Amino acid sequence: MTPALGRIGPAFSTVYRHEPAVVWSAPGRVNLIGEHTDYNAGFVLPFALPHRTAVAVARSERPEWTVWSEAEDQSVTFGAADMAPGRMSGWAGYVAGVVWALREAGIDVPFARLAVASDVPIGAGLSSSAALECSVLAALVDLGGVSHRVPVATWPALAQRAENAYVGVPCGIMDQSAAALCRRGHALFLDCRSQAVEQVPFELESAGLAMLIVDTHASHRHTKNDYAARRSTCEAAALALGIPSLREVDDLAAALARLPDDVMRRRVRHVVTENQRVLTVVGLLRSGAAPEIGPLLSATHDSLRDDYEVTVGELNVAVEAALAAGALGARMTGGGFGGCVIALVKIADSDSVADAVISAFAAKRFAAPSFFVATPSEGAASSLRVAGSLGGAR
Ligand code: GLA
Repeated sequence: MTPALGRIGPAFSTVYRHEPAVVWSAPGRVNLIGEHTDYNAGFVLPFALPHRTAVAVARSERPEWTVWSEAEDQSVTFGAADMAPGRMSGWAGYVAGVVWALREAGIDVPFARLAVASDVPIGAGLSSSAALECSVLAALVDLGGVSHRVPVATWPALAQRAENAYVGVPCGIMDQSAAALCRRGHALFLDCRSQAVEQVPFELESAGLAMLIVDTHASHRHTKNDYAARRSTCEAAALALGIPSLREVDDLAAALARLPDDVMRRRVRHVVTENQRVLTVVGLLRSGAAPEIGPLLSATHDSLRDDYEVTVGELNVAVEAALAAGALGARMTGGGFGGCVIALVKIADSDSVADAVISAFAAKRFAAPSFFVATPSEGAASSLRVAGSLGGAR
């Protein structure tokens, strides 16, 4: 199957019987390091996947928005009456949420027909929802001719607002930032407190390395409640310490001594040490020492397993098997409770590491995992439809 960007123009024309006016796409992501730090005003370091969600749009003469989804082979229509949080649910809720967030920000969103196709695996913790939000947002802003009022730097917060307030998922800002702002060949170093962004060169191939992604296919069990619980424990800890966020902890031992219970202490220890690991990894990447980041990735996994308690059996087994087979570092990526593991491997070892994970999963009677090698890719980009073919990224 061609990538989503190649499919979306023809699909739009088939569904609506005319050409789209603009086509945009945005990627899924993996997070290299900096997990559960974004909603604690901390540091994150994601990079964009080659897998993208593509959206084609054109103005509609009817006072409504209609969205066709390739995955569902279904259209959903919503209008001004649905511009209240939660009115649309399921995949269409993310689209309606973006329209709602833009209108809440005072942006006039044209009524439109949209078509959506995606190569980002859904439910794998690779941010398919942020890819959808950011591609829809970019396409509607372009269609409405309001790019000057909604510059790219504002997209992450708008897309996050759609997800937090309309869809009702209390996520941080990492995934939407990655979908909007990442650059090919770079990881995105984001300070979630100041919103400062640095594109950090992240190129593994010249060092003979690759980032192997293991999709464990372990479904996100109870994710929403567990995620919200982690977040509120962190907020309660900050409150107990009398600081705005856990970013302001500068003496970890002193902070831990002041906290009332063990669970809270362990959550705080993860967040504070994780911020430090991000800074160390950024320092290594800046000095061209990518091969040395492996132990930090593995240390993050241990912290997420023992202190933050967001791993599941499949994630732990994949990490252990990858490391035993020679990976330089491995960890779960994303929110946890299922999803994917990233493993830093020598290119020559990719197959044997994958084989080791397959054998370990078979021994545990887990469902068979799947694999791909991820190269840091481009964030949201437009493609102009020219003479029936899609071409030209921004
Ligand atoms: C999910 C959320 C992000 C972030 C990660 C954990 O992916 O959407 O905002 O909190 O979990 O790092």
